[in-house]
Amino acid sequence: MKQEIYTFNDSRELANKLAEYFHRTVRKTAESGESLFVALSGGTTPRIFFERLAAPPYREETPWKNVHFFWGDERCVQPDNSESNFKMAKDSLLSHITIPDKNIHRIMGENPPQSEVKRYEKEIKDYVPKDRNGHPQFDWIFLGMGKDGHTASLFPGSPTLQEKEAVCVIAVHPASGQKRISLTLPVINSGKRVSFLVTGEEKAPIVEEILKKTPSSLSYPSARVQPADGILEWYLDKPSAKGL
Ligand code: 6PG
Repeated sequence: MKQEIYTFNDSRELANKLAEYFHRTVRKTAESGESLFVALSGGTTPRIFFERLAAPPYREETPWKNVHFFWGDERCVQPDNSESNFKMAKDSLLSHITIPDKNIHRIMGENPPQSEVKRYEKEIKDYVPKDRNGHPQFDWIFLGMGKDGHTASLFPGSPTLQEKEAVCVIAVHPASGQKRISLTLPVINSGKRVSFLVTGEEKAPIVEEILKKTPSSLSYPSARVQPADGILEWYLDKPSAKGL
């Protein structure tokens, strides 16, 4: 596994640099006639990145028909609910770009979790190319990190962290009890490129523990993201990186 850490003055500079890199990556993929299979993160951090992609020149100049958007996790709510990760991506990016509907593979949070976890797993298996172990292999997985070290909807101490076979699981938010659908660690760790976007001073202590590989850090799900054959990237702003 190759790991890179990129630190920026603030979230705007992070978003600008990452948007330029994403744009160039899609263009290069399109030039070879391929598609880029991407899993987006939820929460609030990625909004500024999505908004930068939704603005010129990337809005018009990125070959969006060569991108397939999936999600790393979703809250089990209606797609127009303010809690929905899909709604955040739609409002900040998808409704501003020209991308075929068939390239948007949202998790249907409005469905019963027991059926949706199976439906989404099948959709991923039907579209996303597989790695040598037969796991769906995303080209680029974006992740956020919570203040408790969770990522996607894989929370500390959850049995979902032990899942070895399933592509996605039903998770439960430990504080709110909200049901979620989340990719599992094996699929995340099959990613060719896995990028954490973490900003804000409140996350600095956990970022420091994970990146310094302290003994306690392995209790954090984010520390278990170790794409064996891929690249792990940390996109940080100065406040979140202050312990490094
Ligand atoms: C979610 C996310 C989750 C998020 C972190 C960070 O559905 O909430 O996928 O893993 O990335 O909780 O959230 P913030 O970006 O809001 O701090």
